[in-house]
Amino acid sequence: TYQNKESLYQLSEVAGEYFQDQLWKTEEGKNIALSYFQERGLREEVIQYFHLGYSPKNKNSFTQFVLSKGYKKEILEQTGLSIFKENSEQGIDRFRERIIFPIHSFSGRILGFGGRILQNHVKTAKYLNSPESEIYHKSKVLYGLFQAKSHITKEDNCYLVEGYMDLISLYQSGIKNVVASSGTSLTNDQIRLIKRLTNNITILYDGDSAGIKASFRGIDMILEQDMNVRVLLFPNGEDPDSFVQKNSSDEIENFFKYNIKDFIQFKTDVLLKEAQDDPIKKASLIRDIVSSIALIKNLIQKEIYVKECARLLDISEQVLFSELAQITQNKL
Ligand code: UTP
Ligand code: MN
Ligand code: MN
Ligand code: MN
Ligand code: MN
Repeated sequence: TYQNKESLYQLSEVAGEYFQDQLWKTEEGKNIALSYFQERGLREEVIQYFHLGYSPKNKNSFTQFVLSKGYKKEILEQTGLSIFKENSEQGIDRFRERIIFPIHSFSGRILGFGGRILQNHVKTAKYLNSPESEIYHKSKVLYGLFQAKSHITKEDNCYLVEGYMDLISLYQSGIKNVVASSGTSLTNDQIRLIKRLTNNITILYDGDSAGIKASFRGIDMILEQDMNVRVLLFPNGEDPDSFVQKNSSDEIENFFKYNIKDFIQFKTDVLLKEAQDDPIKKASLIRDIVSSIALIKNLIQKEIYVKECARLLDISEQVLFSELAQITQNKL
């Protein structure tokens, strides 16, 4: 109901304030979390701009705090911020000893949170996210969209990254038209959110095999929504955060300037490297690329891409067009 949703929004807002207070105003927060952010190269104004916070070690200090303010157990449970054992009034906090990333709606209300552990190589998952709730549907939300939307419109392009830290580090380095699909693989609803602002997406996923695989999937989804897609592949093992933190702004600018590829070029480069000189692999690569081209709705663009593809793969346009016709036929 409307009222229930309002209560969830209100509690989330209070939680956001609480986590920020824990970060800035407690010894534990300053010693553990603020210093963590500093180690990762984040400046204070950026930490504040994204309303980052900290959830303390104590297992129920947040739950106690909001219960004492009169918030009801049911609402705490629904946001997932507290977990109550069956029939118990004694809840525990979902987020403990984690740095906190609030996730905002398009209009800036807090919907949920992501929480990262402070040390790597512990057994627990690195990130923990709020569960689905009446106000938080992770497949319909993009992290950072609230902060990025005016920049996306202005640049008429949206960079798409995997994680919270990628987005925040890029923002700090002056690249502000960025969103993250945090905690889920890219969905059609998320692409639609971007499409309200621009027709152009540049994928900046992690430079590892998972990132490349996710880029291939993202390319086809974006093309199916009649948008333009480019890809920037980071050097082996780097992600946008690690790259930006270790390079100067000139180096970053140049890397972007010379390495962003349209999707055909990107797929060709990746697949050709895999295929080496194996003709069988090369044939299946061509089919793979043509099947992406088949998704393009605009006929002029389609033709331009076929020509580019022919040039890159050194194969006749005619063959590609008939391959394209075949794939289109099979889809009907
Ligand atoms: P990564 O696994 O690429 O993070 O997750 P990372 O680069 O190693 O670590 P940091 O962020 O630099 O410290 C990218 C994103 O995937 C989601 C989070 O949104 C994260 O920002 N994720 C990752 C989860 O939701 N759960 C996980 O356990 C791991
Ligand atoms: Mn990782
Ligand atoms: Mn990764
Ligand atoms: Mn990463
Ligand atoms: Mn990272």
